[in-house]
Amino acid sequence: MNSTAARIRDAFTEKFQHTPRLFRSPGRINLIGEHTDYNEGFVLPASVDKAVYFAIAPREDDQVQLEAVDLGESFEFRLDDLSKPAPQWPVYQLAVLDQLQKAGLEIKGFQASFGGDLPVGAGMSSSAALECCLLFALNELFDLGLVQLEIVKMAQRAENEYVGMKCGIMDQFASVFGKEQSVIQLDCRSLEYQYFPFPMDEYLLVLCDTKVKHSLADSEYNLRRQECERGVEILQKHYPEIRSLRDATPALVAEHEDELGPTIYKRCKFITGEIQRVQEACALLLEGDLESFGEKMYETHDGLQHLYEVSCPELDFLVEQTRYNADVAGARMMGGGFGGCTINLVWREGTDRFEQKMKAAYQKEFGIELPCYRVTITDGTAEVEV
Ligand code: GLA
Repeated sequence: MNSTAARIRDAFTEKFQHTPRLFRSPGRINLIGEHTDYNEGFVLPASVDKAVYFAIAPREDDQVQLEAVDLGESFEFRLDDLSKPAPQWPVYQLAVLDQLQKAGLEIKGFQASFGGDLPVGAGMSSSAALECCLLFALNELFDLGLVQLEIVKMAQRAENEYVGMKCGIMDQFASVFGKEQSVIQLDCRSLEYQYFPFPMDEYLLVLCDTKVKHSLADSEYNLRRQECERGVEILQKHYPEIRSLRDATPALVAEHEDELGPTIYKRCKFITGEIQRVQEACALLLEGDLESFGEKMYETHDGLQHLYEVSCPELDFLVEQTRYNADVAGARMMGGGFGGCTINLVWREGTDRFEQKMKAAYQKEFGIELPCYRVTITDGTAEVEV
């Protein structure tokens, strides 16, 4: 057991005075394929060595006792009252319980201490990890009989319906289905998936954490989703068979540029291009051509910055810094946007040098110390032996 897992277990034992069961759900990275999940395209995520942990035990009544170890705060409620609380953080746990109730799955109360080493708001999907972890744990504790994919879909609905963030399925899928040293190519339409080994002998993946999350992140995310749906509606008038942007191509979108109007056109252009790019990128990965893979990452960033318009000055600055750095094969913003991390494909031997340069540049420009995380790809959600 690592020290973070032990810390969460010990917090539980100290507070509740008995031995819990312990569960872990990792955060995710995404190599390429951004904002494609809710357009039924492809994504290429992996689960990482930073995770959320739940130490948990059942109760006989319907009381729920939560302890947020990293915040030093507690919250209690009864299962028959899931109204939104004053502190923001229990919203994710309530969202999960709301889903279980909607599905008619019965549980008893429980006590849980949770926390971890996954930075919150850094675009590594801490909320998805938290929801998946609790659902997985309750499924085990109360024998609910949910299979992995049901957990994934329920966690996504929890986010969509209770939290109000209309996210796609990538984060939850990656957190649950992650596999050591592998990236997952997921078809977000059929939910078929394939693992590819990610070779880390010559290159490492390094995340640079801007430490910012701009307040428009969630509202702009939901707006992008609506803009894509609007694009589909317009294209459907000509091609009724188009169900999502997955069914369109950049060429087809270009034919209808005037009718789509400047904003919707840019959104559709990016998404259809990005869906194609993921497939090309996967082929490059299989050939072991990481240099060309890195170029695709830059193309994705350019699209996210100028066409999809979900980047921000901090992310653009960090990507810009890498463009003429010989140690870097590719870089881009990662996740929903408006803050969080950039993902960088860095020549292994040059990683120290890379981090030093990035930290110095970011400090000088924004006065913020830049955390850099070297990624290790680990297994997805599971119980941890106490
Ligand atoms: C967030 C969402 C995901 C996905 C990414 C962008 O992480 O939760 O579903 O849409 O943004 O690729």
